[in-house]
Amino acid sequence: MNESLRSTVITGIGELITNTPAGGQPGGFAALSDAALVIEGDRVAWTGPAASAPAADDVVDVGGRAVLPGFVDSHAHLVFAGERSAEFAARMAGQAYAAGGIRATVAATRAATDEELRAGLRRLAREMLRQGTTTFECKSGYGLTVRDEARSLAIAAEMTQEVTYLGAHVVPAEFAADPAGYVALACGEMLAACAPHARWVDVFCERGAFGADAARAILAAGKARGLLPRVHANQLGPGPGVRVAVEEGAASADHCTFLTDADIDALASSGTVATLLPGAEFGTRQPYPDARRLLDAGVTVALATDCNPGSSYTSSMPFCVALAVRDMRMTAAEAVWSATAGGARALRRDDVGYLAPGARADLVVLDAPSHAYLAYRPGVPLMHAVWKSGRAVLA
Ligand code: NIG
Ligand code: FE
Repeated sequence: MNESLRSTVITGIGELITNTPAGGQPGGFAALSDAALVIEGDRVAWTGPAASAPAADDVVDVGGRAVLPGFVDSHAHLVFAGERSAEFAARMAGQAYAAGGIRATVAATRAATDEELRAGLRRLAREMLRQGTTTFECKSGYGLTVRDEARSLAIAAEMTQEVTYLGAHVVPAEFAADPAGYVALACGEMLAACAPHARWVDVFCERGAFGADAARAILAAGKARGLLPRVHANQLGPGPGVRVAVEEGAASADHCTFLTDADIDALASSGTVATLLPGAEFGTRQPYPDARRLLDAGVTVALATDCNPGSSYTSSMPFCVALAVRDMRMTAAEAVWSATAGGARALRRDDVGYLAPGARADLVVLDAPSHAYLAYRPGVPLMHAVWKSGRAVLA
């Protein structure tokens, strides 16, 4: 223990989800009952049985509630203006989802001021925190000009370190006759303006967006500028997205709704996480991805919200956990692991998604005795408290 840092012991934990089966090292789902956890500064310093907890400066008794790592939402599109509720209503009345709806948000985003975009992001980040998300990724992709992509990323970087350049979200209307010209811009001047603000490069590899060759070119250009790749893959139909993601060494292939056996094999034998986004299937009435098939094949699965104004306007990781359990046949333990440790893997983070000495003290206290309540009581606000970097940000 470090004497110079203020310490807090959280005790009376009915169920502590650690995700450290080997004791200290992040791994599969693991839980302790009747536990305590000590925070020193912004880190976890100790976990173990409540009866043998060391003394600390402050004591918080959570009265038998469950404690889990803060959610890691590894896929979200949060810098935008406007909304598309009419498009959602039309979809619920039978219209199909198409990538083209993105262009409506692009027009609104270009017309917005920096302050309006910042206020929108701040509102969503606050909403996420209230629902237990302590780490989130944020993409650009609704600017699609050099200026609008760069300012979107600069604003995102004010609120998270997981910033993703998605200039290749869709070909904007003004390039409809020259998609190759847009790919050149996205690989050239636009990337140069965006790379300083971003950690990741992403591409929407899908019919109606970008094909395999364009996706490879964009990821390669991003990598040459020091960005790490991730891919929107196989969301609306079968296609080359997962293959491209694995071949390019992407940290994550996201959506994975329409997969062949070869796609699953490729994921299983790679370091690429499959990030499932059930909010998008909910919001578009598509079939859910086959999580069991991925898990049974040994693929690492993450869950994230895909929060965006088109396909998935939810910021709620608990909602995604509930969908994954009810409609994707994940166990509650698998879904909670995927929403915490899985998200951390998808973002290549080794400091979040688990609770053991050295981990960031990002955690959620549920108003419930076990993690299963996230699916058992869907739609109910279950956040008793949320701690981020060792501080109670919501109590
Ligand atoms: O992840 N797939 C591409 N992008 C978003 C949808 C964006 C939109 O419809 O505005 C997604 O679902
Ligand atoms: Fe997305």
